[in-house]
Amino acid sequence: MQKVRKAVLPAAGLGTRFLPATKAQPKEMLPVVDKPLIQYTVEECVASGIENIIIVTGRGKNAIEDHFDSAPELERFLEEHGQPERAELVRQISKMVHFSYTRQRAVGDDQVAVLAARELVGDEPFAVLLGDVIINGRPVTRSLMDVYEETGVGAIAVEAVHRDRLRLYGVVDTKPAPHQRWGDKLHRIHDLVEKPAPEEAPSNLGVTGRYVLPPVIFDYLAKTEPGSGGEIQLTDALRHLARAEGLYAYVFDGKSYDAGDKLGFLKATVELGLENAEFGDEFRAYLKTVPL
Ligand code: UTP
Repeated sequence: MQKVRKAVLPAAGLGTRFLPATKAQPKEMLPVVDKPLIQYTVEECVASGIENIIIVTGRGKNAIEDHFDSAPELERFLEEHGQPERAELVRQISKMVHFSYTRQRAVGDDQVAVLAARELVGDEPFAVLLGDVIINGRPVTRSLMDVYEETGVGAIAVEAVHRDRLRLYGVVDTKPAPHQRWGDKLHRIHDLVEKPAPEEAPSNLGVTGRYVLPPVIFDYLAKTEPGSGGEIQLTDALRHLARAEGLYAYVFDGKSYDAGDKLGFLKATVELGLENAEFGDEFRAYLKTVPL
Protein backbone atom coordinates (compact mmCIF):
# COMPACT_ATOMS: atom_id res chain seq x y z
CA MET A 1 0.00 0.00 0.00
CA GLN A 2 1.27 3.49 -0.85
CA LYS A 3 2.50 5.55 2.10
CA VAL A 4 0.79 8.87 2.84
CA ARG A 5 3.51 11.53 2.58
CA LYS A 6 1.70 14.74 1.67
CA ALA A 7 -0.93 16.93 3.30
CA VAL A 8 -3.07 19.70 1.84
CA LEU A 9 -4.08 22.56 4.13
CA PRO A 10 -6.81 24.72 2.53
CA ALA A 11 -6.27 28.26 3.83
CA ALA A 12 -7.74 30.46 1.11
CA GLY A 13 -11.12 31.18 2.73
CA LEU A 14 -12.36 34.68 3.49
CA GLY A 15 -13.05 34.05 7.17
CA THR A 16 -16.37 35.91 7.11
CA ARG A 17 -17.53 34.41 10.43
CA PHE A 18 -14.64 36.12 12.17
CA LEU A 19 -15.04 39.65 10.81
CA PRO A 20 -13.84 42.27 11.52
CA ALA A 21 -10.66 40.51 12.79
CA THR A 22 -10.16 38.86 9.40
CA LYS A 23 -10.68 41.92 7.24
CA ALA A 24 -6.97 42.42 6.61
CA GLN A 25 -5.36 39.34 8.16
CA PRO A 26 -5.80 35.63 7.45
CA LYS A 27 -8.04 33.81 9.89
CA GLU A 28 -5.46 31.01 9.93
CA MET A 29 -2.93 33.43 11.47
CA LEU A 30 -5.06 34.40 14.50
CA PRO A 31 -3.06 33.31 17.56
CA VAL A 32 -4.47 30.77 19.98
CA VAL A 33 -2.37 31.30 23.15
CA ASP A 34 1.05 31.73 21.47
CA LYS A 35 0.80 30.13 18.01
CA PRO A 36 -1.19 30.96 14.91
CA LEU A 37 -4.05 28.56 14.28
CA ILE A 38 -2.45 27.00 11.22
CA GLN A 39 0.69 26.10 13.16
CA TYR A 40 -1.36 23.66 15.25
CA THR A 41 -2.40 21.81 12.07
CA VAL A 42 1.16 21.88 10.70
CA GLU A 43 2.40 20.40 14.00
CA GLU A 44 -0.27 17.69 13.79
CA CYS A 45 1.07 16.83 10.30
CA VAL A 46 4.65 16.66 11.56
CA ALA A 47 3.64 14.48 14.53
CA SER A 48 1.83 12.20 12.06
CA GLY A 49 4.89 11.71 9.85
CA ILE A 50 3.81 13.88 6.91
CA GLU A 51 6.84 14.97 4.86
CA ASN A 52 5.42 17.59 2.53
CA ILE A 53 2.76 20.18 3.35
CA ILE A 54 0.90 21.99 0.57
CA ILE A 55 -0.86 25.14 1.78
CA VAL A 56 -3.57 26.53 -0.48
CA THR A 57 -3.58 30.30 -0.14
CA GLY A 58 -5.02 33.27 -1.99
CA ARG A 59 -5.07 37.06 -1.96
CA GLY A 60 -4.18 38.59 1.40
CA LYS A 61 -2.65 35.38 2.78
CA ASN A 62 1.07 36.22 2.47
CA ALA A 63 1.50 36.24 6.25
CA ILE A 64 1.11 32.45 6.20
CA GLU A 65 4.11 32.01 3.86
CA ASP A 66 6.16 34.50 5.87
CA HIS A 67 5.38 32.64 9.09
CA PHE A 68 6.72 29.32 7.81
CA ASP A 69 9.73 30.90 6.06
CA SER A 70 13.08 31.52 7.73
CA ALA A 71 13.52 34.95 9.39
CA PRO A 72 17.32 35.55 9.49
CA GLU A 73 17.14 39.17 10.76
CA LEU A 74 14.86 38.20 13.63
CA GLU A 75 17.00 35.15 14.48
CA ARG A 76 20.18 37.29 14.42
CA PHE A 77 18.57 39.96 16.58
CA LEU A 78 17.49 37.40 19.18
CA GLU A 79 20.94 35.74 19.21
CA GLU A 80 22.68 39.10 19.62
CA HIS A 81 20.36 40.14 22.42
CA GLY A 82 20.89 37.04 24.55
CA GLN A 83 17.71 35.18 23.61
CA PRO A 84 19.01 31.97 21.98
CA GLU A 85 15.92 29.93 22.98
CA ARG A 86 13.62 32.35 21.19
CA ALA A 87 15.95 32.33 18.17
CA GLU A 88 15.71 28.53 18.11
CA LEU A 89 11.91 28.65 18.45
CA VAL A 90 11.73 30.91 15.39
CA ARG A 91 14.25 28.79 13.44
CA GLN A 92 12.41 25.53 14.08
CA ILE A 93 9.17 26.81 12.53
CA SER A 94 10.69 26.90 9.05
CA LYS A 95 12.52 23.62 9.50
CA MET A 96 9.68 21.42 10.69
CA VAL A 97 8.77 20.03 7.28
CA HIS A 98 8.92 20.84 3.56
CA PHE A 99 6.33 23.47 2.56
CA SER A 100 4.84 24.18 -0.88
CA TYR A 101 2.21 26.76 -1.75
CA THR A 102 -0.42 27.04 -4.41
CA ARG A 103 -3.09 29.66 -4.87
CA GLN A 104 -6.81 29.24 -5.20
CA ARG A 105 -7.94 31.74 -7.79
CA ALA A 106 -11.70 31.91 -7.21
CA VAL A 107 -12.49 31.70 -3.51
CA GLY A 108 -15.71 29.88 -2.75
CA ASP A 109 -15.41 26.52 -1.10
CA ASP A 110 -13.03 23.94 0.29
CA GLN A 111 -13.54 21.62 -2.70
CA VAL A 112 -11.96 24.15 -5.08
CA ALA A 113 -9.12 24.60 -2.58
CA VAL A 114 -8.32 20.87 -2.54
CA LEU A 115 -8.54 20.68 -6.33
CA ALA A 116 -6.01 23.53 -6.57
CA ALA A 117 -3.44 21.19 -4.99
CA ARG A 118 -3.94 18.43 -7.58
CA GLU A 119 -0.67 18.93 -9.47
CA LEU A 120 1.42 19.22 -6.32
CA VAL A 121 -0.12 16.08 -4.83
CA GLY A 122 0.16 14.01 -8.01
CA ASP A 123 -0.88 10.39 -8.13
CA GLU A 124 -0.59 9.46 -4.48
CA PRO A 125 -2.79 9.35 -1.37
CA PHE A 126 -2.80 12.51 0.74
CA ALA A 127 -4.19 14.04 3.91
CA VAL A 128 -6.39 17.14 4.11
CA LEU A 129 -6.52 19.21 7.30
CA LEU A 130 -8.76 22.25 7.60
CA GLY A 131 -6.50 24.97 8.91
CA ASP A 132 -8.92 26.41 11.44
CA VAL A 133 -9.82 23.19 13.27
CA ILE A 134 -7.58 22.33 16.23
CA ILE A 135 -7.73 18.76 17.53
CA ASN A 136 -6.17 18.11 20.88
CA GLY A 137 -4.59 14.84 21.91
CA ARG A 138 -3.12 12.02 19.81
CA PRO A 139 -2.67 13.19 16.18
CA VAL A 140 -5.86 12.16 14.38
CA THR A 141 -4.18 12.43 10.97
CA ARG A 142 -1.77 9.64 12.00
CA SER A 143 -4.72 7.35 12.79
CA LEU A 144 -6.34 8.10 9.40
CA MET A 145 -3.00 7.41 7.67
CA ASP A 146 -2.76 4.07 9.50
CA VAL A 147 -6.26 3.12 8.32
CA TYR A 148 -5.39 3.99 4.71
CA GLU A 149 -1.98 2.33 4.76
CA GLU A 150 -3.46 -0.89 6.16
CA THR A 151 -6.72 -1.09 4.18
CA GLY A 152 -6.13 1.00 1.02
CA VAL A 153 -9.44 2.77 1.71
CA GLY A 154 -9.76 6.50 2.47
CA ALA A 155 -10.76 7.60 5.98
CA ILE A 156 -12.22 10.75 7.50
CA ALA A 157 -12.37 11.83 11.13
CA VAL A 158 -15.79 12.08 12.78
CA GLU A 159 -16.93 12.90 16.30
CA ALA A 160 -20.18 12.71 18.22
CA VAL A 161 -21.93 16.07 17.92
CA HIS A 162 -24.80 17.40 20.04
CA ARG A 163 -28.11 17.27 18.14
CA ASP A 164 -28.49 21.09 18.18
CA ARG A 165 -25.14 21.55 16.42
CA LEU A 166 -25.53 18.95 13.65
CA ARG A 167 -26.68 21.64 11.20
CA LEU A 168 -23.12 23.06 11.31
CA TYR A 169 -21.49 19.79 10.13
CA GLY A 170 -21.32 17.26 7.35
CA VAL A 171 -22.99 14.20 8.93
CA VAL A 172 -22.25 10.58 7.98
CA ASP A 173 -24.60 7.67 7.46
CA THR A 174 -22.58 4.62 8.49
CA LYS A 175 -22.52 0.97 9.45
CA PRO A 176 -20.08 -0.23 12.11
CA ALA A 177 -17.06 -1.97 10.59
CA PRO A 178 -15.30 -3.40 13.66
CA HIS A 179 -11.63 -4.03 13.08
CA GLN A 180 -9.12 -5.91 15.21
CA ARG A 181 -6.79 -2.91 15.33
CA TRP A 182 -9.29 -0.05 15.77
CA GLY A 183 -12.19 -1.84 17.49
CA ASP A 184 -15.49 -0.02 17.12
CA LYS A 185 -13.91 3.30 16.09
CA LEU A 186 -14.19 2.35 12.42
CA HIS A 187 -17.42 2.67 10.41
CA ARG A 188 -18.18 2.22 6.70
CA ILE A 189 -19.72 5.33 5.17
CA HIS A 190 -22.81 4.88 2.99
CA ASP A 191 -23.74 8.50 2.61
CA LEU A 192 -22.90 12.00 3.81
CA VAL A 193 -25.33 14.86 4.30
CA GLU A 194 -24.11 18.45 4.47
CA LYS A 195 -25.51 20.55 7.36
CA PRO A 196 -28.75 18.58 7.95
CA ALA A 197 -31.67 19.68 10.16
CA PRO A 198 -31.47 17.60 13.39
CA GLU A 199 -34.53 15.48 12.44
CA GLU A 200 -32.99 14.66 9.05
CA ALA A 201 -29.49 13.81 10.28
CA PRO A 202 -28.59 10.16 9.54
CA SER A 203 -26.45 9.91 12.73
CA ASN A 204 -24.84 12.10 15.36
CA LEU A 205 -21.37 11.73 13.81
CA GLY A 206 -20.06 14.99 12.35
CA VAL A 207 -17.13 15.33 9.94
CA THR A 208 -14.29 17.18 11.67
CA GLY A 209 -11.82 18.58 9.17
CA ARG A 210 -9.34 15.68 8.85
CA TYR A 211 -9.26 13.39 5.82
CA VAL A 212 -6.92 10.87 4.18
CA LEU A 213 -7.95 10.28 0.59
CA PRO A 214 -6.84 8.34 -2.47
CA PRO A 215 -5.82 10.41 -5.51
CA VAL A 216 -8.96 9.35 -7.40
CA ILE A 217 -10.84 11.89 -5.24
CA PHE A 218 -9.54 14.57 -7.63
CA ASP A 219 -11.64 13.06 -10.44
CA TYR A 220 -14.75 13.24 -8.24
CA LEU A 221 -13.90 16.78 -7.16
CA ALA A 222 -13.51 17.88 -10.77
CA LYS A 223 -16.85 16.32 -11.76
CA THR A 224 -19.06 17.37 -8.84
CA GLU A 225 -21.77 19.93 -9.60
CA PRO A 226 -22.65 22.75 -7.16
CA GLY A 227 -24.83 21.40 -4.32
CA SER A 228 -27.22 23.11 -1.91
CA GLY A 229 -26.78 26.87 -1.75
CA GLY A 230 -24.72 26.90 -4.96
CA GLU A 231 -21.57 25.83 -3.08
CA ILE A 232 -19.49 22.91 -4.31
CA GLN A 233 -18.69 20.96 -1.18
CA LEU A 234 -15.98 18.46 -0.46
CA THR A 235 -18.86 16.41 0.98
CA ASP A 236 -20.39 15.81 -2.46
CA ALA A 237 -17.18 14.35 -3.84
CA LEU A 238 -16.74 12.25 -0.67
CA ARG A 239 -20.22 10.81 -1.19
CA HIS A 240 -19.25 9.67 -4.70
CA LEU A 241 -15.98 8.26 -3.40
CA ALA A 242 -17.77 6.35 -0.61
CA ARG A 243 -20.18 4.74 -3.08
CA ALA A 244 -17.64 3.87 -5.76
CA GLU A 245 -14.46 3.00 -3.81
CA GLY A 246 -15.48 2.84 -0.14
CA LEU A 247 -14.65 5.27 2.66
CA TYR A 248 -14.22 4.85 6.41
CA ALA A 249 -15.33 7.15 9.20
CA TYR A 250 -12.93 7.06 12.15
CA VAL A 251 -14.32 8.15 15.52
CA PHE A 252 -11.41 9.89 17.24
CA ASP A 253 -10.82 10.37 20.97
CA GLY A 254 -9.41 13.89 21.20
CA LYS A 255 -11.33 17.15 21.48
CA SER A 256 -11.83 19.42 18.48
CA TYR A 257 -12.28 23.18 18.31
CA ASP A 258 -13.63 25.00 15.27
CA ALA A 259 -11.48 28.00 15.97
CA GLY A 260 -12.65 29.69 12.75
CA ASP A 261 -15.78 30.56 14.66
CA LYS A 262 -15.66 33.20 17.42
CA LEU A 263 -17.03 31.02 20.23
CA GLY A 264 -14.94 28.00 19.18
CA PHE A 265 -11.88 30.24 19.15
CA LEU A 266 -12.59 31.46 22.69
CA LYS A 267 -13.06 27.90 23.96
CA ALA A 268 -9.79 26.80 22.35
CA THR A 269 -7.98 29.79 23.85
CA VAL A 270 -9.25 29.10 27.37
CA GLU A 271 -8.68 25.33 27.30
CA LEU A 272 -5.25 25.44 25.65
CA GLY A 273 -4.32 28.35 27.94
CA LEU A 274 -5.18 26.16 30.95
CA GLU A 275 -2.85 23.44 29.61
CA ASN A 276 0.05 25.83 29.12
CA ALA A 277 3.12 24.69 31.07
CA GLU A 278 4.35 28.25 31.70
CA PHE A 279 1.23 29.98 33.04
CA GLY A 280 -1.64 27.42 33.01
CA ASP A 281 -1.89 27.26 36.82
CA GLU A 282 -1.86 31.03 37.19
CA PHE A 283 -4.50 31.31 34.45
CA ARG A 284 -6.70 28.74 36.27
CA ALA A 285 -6.39 30.71 39.50
CA TYR A 286 -7.33 33.88 37.60
CA LEU A 287 -10.39 32.27 35.97
CA LYS A 288 -11.68 31.29 39.42
CA THR A 289 -11.79 34.97 40.34
CA VAL A 290 -13.89 35.93 37.30
CA PRO A 291 -17.50 36.48 38.38
CA LEU A 292 -19.80 34.16 36.33
P1 UTP B 1 -14.28 27.64 6.43
O1 UTP B 1 -15.60 27.65 5.81
O2 UTP B 1 -14.19 27.43 7.90
O3 UTP B 1 -13.47 28.97 6.10
O4 UTP B 1 -13.34 26.61 5.67
P2 UTP B 1 -13.91 30.33 5.50
O5 UTP B 1 -14.69 30.14 4.26
O6 UTP B 1 -12.68 31.16 5.44
O7 UTP B 1 -14.77 30.86 6.72
P3 UTP B 1 -16.15 31.63 6.82
O8 UTP B 1 -17.20 30.56 6.81
O9 UTP B 1 -16.24 32.62 5.69
O10 UTP B 1 -16.03 32.30 8.16
C1 UTP B 1 -12.42 25.73 6.30
C2 UTP B 1 -11.04 25.92 5.71
O11 UTP B 1 -11.09 25.89 4.28
C3 UTP B 1 -10.43 27.01 3.74
C4 UTP B 1 -10.45 28.07 4.82
O12 UTP B 1 -9.36 28.96 4.68
C5 UTP B 1 -10.41 27.27 6.11
O13 UTP B 1 -9.09 27.05 6.56
N1 UTP B 1 -11.10 27.47 2.49
C6 UTP B 1 -12.40 27.81 2.51
C7 UTP B 1 -10.33 27.56 1.35
O14 UTP B 1 -9.13 27.25 1.32
N2 UTP B 1 -10.92 28.04 0.21
C8 UTP B 1 -12.22 28.42 0.19
O15 UTP B 1 -12.69 28.85 -0.88
C9 UTP B 1 -12.98 28.30 1.35
